[in-house]
Amino acid sequence: MSLPGVAVGLLTLTGGRGAALAGGMARIAYDDRSAAAFAATRHLATDGLTSWRAAVARHLPTTAGARVLDLGAGTATWAAAFRAWYGLDVVAVEPSAAMRARAGYEAMVGGDAAALPLAAASLDGAWLSTVIHHLPDLPAVAAELRRTLRAGAPVLIRSVFPGRAGGISLFRWFPEALRVVASYPSVAEVCAAFESAGFAPVALEPVPQVSAPSLRTAADGLRRSAHTPLLLLDDADYARGVRRMRGAAARTPDVPVVDTMDLLVLR
Ligand SMILES: C[S@@+](CC[C@H](N)C(=O)[O-])C[C@H]1O[C@@H](n2cnc3c(N)ncnc32)[C@H](O)[C@@H]1O
Repeated sequence: MSLPGVAVGLLTLTGGRGAALAGGMARIAYDDRSAAAFAATRHLATDGLTSWRAAVARHLPTTAGARVLDLGAGTATWAAAFRAWYGLDVVAVEPSAAMRARAGYEAMVGGDAAALPLAAASLDGAWLSTVIHHLPDLPAVAAELRRTLRAGAPVLIRSVFPGRAGGISLFRWFPEALRVVASYPSVAEVCAAFESAGFAPVALEPVPQVSAPSLRTAADGLRRSAHTPLLLLDDADYARGVRRMRGAAARTPDVPVVDTMDLLVLR
């Protein structure tokens, strides 16, 4: 794998970790409870996403009318933002009825990443935000994206990757949750799965966002069921993390919460 234009220091190629989800099982169920928590606390204010808006525009075709897939769209925050920011025609695919019910975005269909309900060569790009670790069969997903994307169209993956989670504030309060991240597919594993379907990596960029206007807001609004790594922690570790986070929020309540996640692009 090579990533032109990417500083070598940014790369942590951690092959061979336990990326697969055992037996094809989902990590967490996006049922009514998780979907409600997600909708209540994971919707980012778009004014905190200036850097994402610029980063996405560097890689996704943003000519008006271009057709883009938001895969594992959740409540379709990003689909709606891409339509508003760039005038894109965004189709959102999401398997969870509970997430779809909270979306308020009409161009949304039920479907699984490994069997997309979309025609061959019908897309100019694909966006996967914090979803790659939920997909048990990455080669099958890559093959579906190869089938549905036009030649040369990009896949943009927004994710936390093992060994690259240092820019995410949640892990300062919940360091035990890094064990969960260690089981996510690494950059190298994602690239290998996509290379098997004919894609090549072209960029890996850390991109910052303002996740909450203040640490106090973040601590007050924390919902365990909105975050996969916190759901998979044991209760004692979770309780310790909440104490750490509340302690920090009491000391520095007004500090904005800035998190940095990766954007991996393949074509
Ligand atoms: C953390 S949420 C991210 C939602 C949205 N992409 C965002 O960033 O706001 C993960 C989403 O992946 C979806 N998902 C899980 N398994 C999937 C699969 N096999 N195919 C497509 N989406 C899946 C879940 O239902 C959930 O909505």
